[in-house]
Amino acid sequence: MAQSALLKSSIAKKYWMALTGLFLCLFLAGHLAGNLQLIFGDALQFNQYALFMTSNPAVKLLSYLTYFSILFHAVDGILLTIQNKKARPIGYAKSNPAANSGFASRNMAVLGTLILVFIVTHMVNFWAKMHFDKKMPVYATTVEMMGQKQDLYVTTSGTYIPVTQVAKDSKEAEEIGAQLYIDHGKDFYNTQAKIKVGEGYKDLHKITFDFFKSKAKLFGAIPNEGLVFTILYVLCMGVLAFHLWHGFQSAFQSLGINNKFTPAIKTFGKLFAVIVPILFAIIPLYIHFVK
Ligand code: HEM
Repeated sequence: MAQSALLKSSIAKKYWMALTGLFLCLFLAGHLAGNLQLIFGDALQFNQYALFMTSNPAVKLLSYLTYFSILFHAVDGILLTIQNKKARPIGYAKSNPAANSGFASRNMAVLGTLILVFIVTHMVNFWAKMHFDKKMPVYATTVEMMGQKQDLYVTTSGTYIPVTQVAKDSKEAEEIGAQLYIDHGKDFYNTQAKIKVGEGYKDLHKITFDFFKSKAKLFGAIPNEGLVFTILYVLCMGVLAFHLWHGFQSAFQSLGINNKFTPAIKTFGKLFAVIVPILFAIIPLYIHFVK
């Protein structure tokens, strides 16, 4: 490719990386606000939020934009790194990278790849369960009535159904003579009439707490996997902090924004890069050690 064409395609890639990167920063801020309910809210609130996030059409559209941005940002980043390496195969004669740029800016591709690995495993553990796992638990609360404890499913219309009246599927309902059964992972059906009588909440709160508090052996060998996941999450948030430290202000540079607000943008970017990952890291730490 001619030098100028190469330069043009590099600039276009940087531009799109900047746009998708900034959109992902917005996603991070929203995702953090939602997840902080794991600390400040109760299980029902978090599950109501999860249902809203997976069923509201506008939020669904934003989710698709997020998946697209993650893929686009990652692929563009890999292509740009390859392109830069090809354009400069032997490096500068007097290169002294440590003196000329910071750790984060020199390692954006490695940091980004680690974040991609994190996002994929993270989505397998939570998002995929929420969307596709047929065995996802349905949220139930325990109340005390006349000195006796009773487990009740909470429906989206605010009514309660005793857990003992509900079978896990239609087959079990016929066998044990239960009035109701669960279908589609969260819908309550009448066994006789086979009609939907209510909708429950998928218990994403339980899935998240069980994940970080699990005492099971990881790969059948490493004890206390919840602690291992907590440590890995905290380390990944360190990686995210470094990536954002350079990425945030670099995005504005790539978009050609350079004006009197630039120093303020840089300061905001650095604060964002530190505060957001710290708050994310506190969530698994809180669940594992405090709850
Ligand atoms: C450490 C604290 C975090 C917790 C407890 C957490 C928890 C969750 C949960 C429960 C879901 C499933 C929600 C759903 O499907 O509606 C989810 C989805 C997701 N998470 Fe996280 N998350 C954390 C950090 C992060 C970080 C740092 C990133 C990105 C770097 C991230 C990226 C995603 C993505 C892309 C999805 C799918 C979102 C969608 O479908 O719209 N998460 N997370």
